[in-house]
This record gives sequence, C-alpha cells and structure tokens, in this order.
Amino acid sequence: MRILAVGVATLDIVNRVVAYPQEDQEIRAVSQSRRRGGNACNSLTVLSRLGHRCSWAGVMADDEASRFILEQLQTVQIDTRWVRVESGGMTPTSYIISSEASGSRTIVHYRQLSEFSYADFAEIDLQAYDWIHFEGRNPQATLKMLEQLRQQPLELQVSLELEKPRPGLEQALPYVDVVMLSRAYSMAKGFADARQLFHHIGPMTRQALCYLAWGEQGSWMLDRHGEVHFEQAVKPLEVVDTLGAGDVFNAGVIHALLESGDPLEALRHGNRIAGEKCGREGL
Ligand code: FRU
Repeated sequence: MRILAVGVATLDIVNRVVAYPQEDQEIRAVSQSRRRGGNACNSLTVLSRLGHRCSWAGVMADDEASRFILEQLQTVQIDTRWVRVESGGMTPTSYIISSEASGSRTIVHYRQLSEFSYADFAEIDLQAYDWIHFEGRNPQATLKMLEQLRQQPLELQVSLELEKPRPGLEQALPYVDVVMLSRAYSMAKGFADARQLFHHIGPMTRQALCYLAWGEQGSWMLDRHGEVHFEQAVKPLEVVDTLGAGDVFNAGVIHALLESGDPLEALRHGNRIAGEKCGREGL
C-alpha cells in the first residue's frame, strides 16, 4: 500500500552507557552511533521494510547531516519528493543516552528548522496514497491540512500521533480515523492510566480507533464501540534499546490495519513488533 507520513527526520547521536549517570557526573560511553531518527521517518522505515511504498513529507536542512539522512532514507526506499529543503537550516539533532542497565533512552533534542507548512502540504498529490500519517507537531498547520484533506473525495485513512501535548492539537481529532497516543502524552495531561486518557480523548474523535503504547506494561486500544482492550507487552530476552519503540508500534498498527482492517489484530501486531524492537539495537 502507499503511505505518506508528515513529520520530521532527525540526526540521532546515541551514546550507549553502562548505567545512566548522576547529574554533574563525568562518564564514558561504551559506544556511539549516528542514526537517522524522527518519529515519522522511523515509522516509515518499518513500513517500507514491511513492503509498503512510503513517502516522507517534512523539512530538511542542507547541511552535512541532512545528506547523511537522505542517503539513509534512500537505502530504505523512502521517497522524498515532497520534502522542502531549507537552505541555511540546521538538521534537528537528538543527543541520546541509552542505558545498558535499564534499556531506557533519555533524549535531549535541539531544533532550529521550520516546520512543514500548510503551503507545503497543498502541493502533495493526495490521491496517490492509501494512508496518511501525521506526526502531529504544528497544531494550526496540521488542522488546516486535515480540513483540506477532508474536503476532497479521497479513499484513504488518516492517523494522527499525539506524542506530546501541543496547544490546539486536539482540535484535529474529529478529522482522523486512528489516533496514536503515548504514555508521555497521558502523563503530561495528568492521566495516570489508559482508561482515563481514552475517556478524555474518545469523545473528541468521531469514533476513531485510539492506540496507546504504555512501555514495558503493554499496549491499549479504544475501539469504535467504546470498548477498551489491553495486550501484555511481549518482552525480549534482554532489553537492549528502546529508542523508537513507540514509532515501531505505530508502524505495526498501521500495517495491520491496512492488511486486515482488524483493530485488535493491529493492537497485537504493534505490540509484538515494538517488543521485538526493544531486544535489538536500532530499528
Ligand atoms: C524516537 C525519536 C528519535 C528522535 C526523537 C525526536 O521516537 O523519533 O529518533 O530523535 O524521537 O523527538
């Protein structure tokens, strides 16, 4: 199937350490890797490997890191025709500490690049896609994109990720078929568990399916009839690297919904591949 994702690509500098340091401590990294990251591009990488034809819509800088990112995208056959290049811009960079002791990943992100705009989006031939996924970054622009999209007679499904609370983003909820939530979003909104979050989000959608990955516990789904489902996490023998596990979960959900259309199967699939991902380095 043909999938478009609107979001970011980042340069991830991952320092692997034996254990997470104390504040003001000086420690050595066991290893360092340089990866192409960003939620939308991470999910597309998985979807492309699962056999879909994937396009990324986002903004790139024109520095050395963006050339590295472009090469990486090409190796996983992600099409970049809708990408806008901002000359003089700097590639968004994440400085990541990945702890061997716990498998946790701590991210310090630096960003100085414009967001993909409504004008950029208006250029896209939407007819060419079966699924459009929005990373849900720029609330006003995302809302306009969705309004424009819904005015057209398109046969496609739309998903929106709410990973961090961003003022105004929830206004986009009535326009989407599938919502991807995160534990970080839930905690930041003051909801201690999935049911409370679904209770808040569900009524703002038009019976959208809502998915929520809750780390090492497992994943949740609110179906179109208001029923809540839970899948226990599939734990790897050893937790090696959790960076991007949520993006893998989202890809697994999208893949299964496109393949079978079964919401519960999609929860299981997302949950399974996110668990497998945590057992290995990288995506
Ligand atoms: C993982 C990730 C990283 C990136 C960061 C951006 O989910 O996409 O690849 O650096 O989050 O917030």
